[in-house]
Amino acid sequence: MTDPVDTKAWKALTAHHAAVSSTTLRDLFSADDTRFDTFQLKAAGLFLDYSKNHITSETVDLLLQLAEESNVKRHFERMFTGDIVNPTEGRPSLHTALRNRGPEPVMVEGRDVMPDVKAVLERLRVFSERVREGSWTGFTGKAITDVVNIGIGGSDLGPLMAVEALAPFAHERLTLHFVSNVDGSHLHSTLKKINPETTLFIVASKTFSTQETLTNAHSARRWFLDSAAGEEDVTKHFVALSTNADAVSAFGIDTQNMFGFWDWVGGRYSLWSAIGLPVILSIGMDRFEQFLQGAYDMDNHARTAPLSENMPVMLALLTVWYNNFWQAHSHLIAPYDQYLHRFPAYLQQLTMESNGKSVHVDGSPVQSATGPVVWGEPGTNGQHAYFQLLHQGTHMIPADFIMAIESLNPMGIHQDLLMANCFAQSEALMMGKNKEELATEMRAAGASDEEIERLSGHRTFAGNRPSNTLLVQQVTPHALGALIALYEHKVFVEAAIWDINPFDQWGVELGKQLAKSIHAQIDKAQTVTSHDASTNGLINRALKFKNV
Ligand code: F6P
Repeated sequence: MTDPVDTKAWKALTAHHAAVSSTTLRDLFSADDTRFDTFQLKAAGLFLDYSKNHITSETVDLLLQLAEESNVKRHFERMFTGDIVNPTEGRPSLHTALRNRGPEPVMVEGRDVMPDVKAVLERLRVFSERVREGSWTGFTGKAITDVVNIGIGGSDLGPLMAVEALAPFAHERLTLHFVSNVDGSHLHSTLKKINPETTLFIVASKTFSTQETLTNAHSARRWFLDSAAGEEDVTKHFVALSTNADAVSAFGIDTQNMFGFWDWVGGRYSLWSAIGLPVILSIGMDRFEQFLQGAYDMDNHARTAPLSENMPVMLALLTVWYNNFWQAHSHLIAPYDQYLHRFPAYLQQLTMESNGKSVHVDGSPVQSATGPVVWGEPGTNGQHAYFQLLHQGTHMIPADFIMAIESLNPMGIHQDLLMANCFAQSEALMMGKNKEELATEMRAAGASDEEIERLSGHRTFAGNRPSNTLLVQQVTPHALGALIALYEHKVFVEAAIWDINPFDQWGVELGKQLAKSIHAQIDKAQTVTSHDASTNGLINRALKFKNV
């Protein structure tokens, strides 16, 4: 693979950027009133308007050339067909097999994995139906009312986000809780709300070795056994989602109560596997299958649509355009749908754990920026918090607005206001307000010329801030599946262009190792001298506080 900076397209894009960077978005729109029709895409029920970007047809052609030179299509084929696309761990990455609704086999090491995938889905259906209908009972014979998912990272963010996003479809008797943080307050505040007789704990961990999850799971079991329950009742109240049957047994969960998945499913891509159990319990298996179908429809789009009509490819190219040519290294996700409030957090792991890399697939250092910082909050709340910086700060932060047109809880004018705010923000970011427009507005409100002059620096908006707007009819299971898969493929395409491995995460290991050794030292409660002066100082100071 050639370093992306050495491709012809990269060099042409560098020159193109120099030529077009002073043209404003206002200029582009005044010069061409067909931009909205030209720069839009449809896929799997989603509609993307990408016209409010610093692009012309020439920019798009060059970006598509970059995708061609980076062999994006071949990368997709390698992933979909089970090639080792994660070479540092020697694994394929086949989350797409988990939502494959078609008849085609998916081969790993010469074996079709689809029968195993389907068998686990069937077990999940049977189990979830028993819990939902109330025939899976707790140790006193009562139906389950509360489900506590204990997991972290990909074993938490995905199911939590999806359960919240699909709350209107939730089972009436079941309340879903999520405990992830090793901070005991997280478990404590959840345990205060539940009754051991009617609670099901799901211990979700791909490796079943994650410190936070195992600590929380052990404490939850202790709490359970401190009630009237006995050891023999654990099977009725604890199930595991994991790839590690031995560790599940060692913890004390019967592997009959374990729903497995495979090492070719990355943690942050595991929502489609047994890790989706909280979602299945909440919305039911039939709706979960619609969710899988939405993702499958997006998979087919990503795999078959030409690059120029390919939604994840286009979103990825725009990120590369801003990140590498405009030096805009931050990306906002602003969902205008309260139920999507954890979507930005979910995308943070998906994008930053995947593309936060500094070396190419072959281990050589990258020569250009990789994954941007991804963050966000739902609108309209964000407007009253950080949007000031987007409008008038010194950073250009490309934004994705995600708007669900129909509310699942229609109420008076709420939805129309929500929509109006979403469209107003992208318009304001792009158009801004110049001195003349401000002067007209202030004059009409009776301001003097002197006052207009004094305030014009503060009250004008440069505009020219780019954004995408994604429209979805309603946040249904199908739409959510398509939306998540869209971003998964976007991240994949970015990685293909940057020639980095999006499927490993070695960067999280050092902190884990050090935490282990510092924990042992805190446990011993003796003054430490083995670290740098700051870390020694902090540990010793904390030990002093602890002993007070
Ligand atoms: O800390 C990184 C990580 O390995 C994530 O990639 C993963 O989603 C999370 O920890 C949880 O891992 P596990 O499911 O094995 O407990």
